[in-house]
Amino acid sequence: MNREDFPMLKQNLIYLDNGATSFKPKEVIAKINEYYMTYSANAHRGDYDISYKVDQEYENTRDLVKEFINAKSKEEIIFTSGTTEGLNLIATGFFERNIEPGDEIIITKSEHASNVLPWFRIAKNQKAIIKYVELNEDHQVTLENLQKIITPKTKIIALAQITNVIGDVRPIKEICSLAHQNNIFVVVDGAQSIPHMKVDVQDLDCDFLCFSAHKMCGPTGIGVLYGKKELLEAIEPINLGGGMNESFDNEQEVFLKALPSRLEAGTPNIAGVIGLGAAISYLNKIGMEKIEQYEKELREYLISKLEKISYIDIINLHSKAGIVAFNVDNIFSQDVAYYLNRYNICVRAGNHCAKILKNETGVKNTCRISLYFYNTKEEIDKLVELLSDKEKIIAEMF
Ligand code: ALA
Repeated sequence: MNREDFPMLKQNLIYLDNGATSFKPKEVIAKINEYYMTYSANAHRGDYDISYKVDQEYENTRDLVKEFINAKSKEEIIFTSGTTEGLNLIATGFFERNIEPGDEIIITKSEHASNVLPWFRIAKNQKAIIKYVELNEDHQVTLENLQKIITPKTKIIALAQITNVIGDVRPIKEICSLAHQNNIFVVVDGAQSIPHMKVDVQDLDCDFLCFSAHKMCGPTGIGVLYGKKELLEAIEPINLGGGMNESFDNEQEVFLKALPSRLEAGTPNIAGVIGLGAAISYLNKIGMEKIEQYEKELREYLISKLEKISYIDIINLHSKAGIVAFNVDNIFSQDVAYYLNRYNICVRAGNHCAKILKNETGVKNTCRISLYFYNTKEEIDKLVELLSDKEKIIAEMF
């Protein structure tokens, strides 16, 4: 779908590593270029035309994000450098001051490092306790298992909406409802979900949600932290500096600005924000429902083909997202990736930053195929053809 929009697809590549980052359409690249070429001023600081233009474009992206995830107000949209920064800001700026020794933080063993390590640090600093939800036989979260480990001490549930290796789509709406009945906050890592499905934060009723632009056709180094307004207002800014203070004096009296500025200190990634706006407009033109549906079909097609290869073990057979993790019997995942690379096929191999997942699946490394809407059945056919000859893999893997 829409392949002609992507300059990278003009190369002879089969790109199946969209979980790592996506390609960018011409429109996004042009919009970033336009900023640097024609109105390259700072944001929120200048009293001249090109600076007004920057403010307009920058805030336009905030409006687009608000609409895209259906936040209640634009104050609930904070620009960050990406999902990782957002999750760290929530953990350090909000929860570190709101958690007591003995409080419990629930995560799973299939989370990405960015949704594990900030919680480990809080647990260590505040003597809180990390608890892992038991996953079912498909390595997925169930409400029953979640319900079982909630106690009056549970303070936070932090989960990816879609995990980056298992690719399971979590029932976040139901999880939020269960959590809120028990006065628990829900933090959602949306890095792998926002690019692939329609997400409505008001419908989910999550407390915080973070995502990155670069996995959704936008530039690297820019992302979004969404939070309910009253919670964002309670965040202690990690970065203090220009743009986020109203005033300060030599008696050290400091007044901070209102949201969203108070959490966006310093000159922001202006080109990134403008590029994110272009990416959202681009995705909106295609339609998130259409993207989700198409990727579902692609995944089913891929699974139906891979399942027929007897020496391929699919780790996440019953997941729903366009992520398929597999191994070829007795061949190291990275060797399979090297082999595919000989044929210009890009997949990721290893533990994919989900370093405790092995304790759940018993499998340390996998090859991961992660699809996006510009992938095709023909590309899958080529991949499957190359994986269908084990002797060839062994002969060519080094
Ligand atoms: N988090 C990215 C991935 O899963 C980099 O590949």
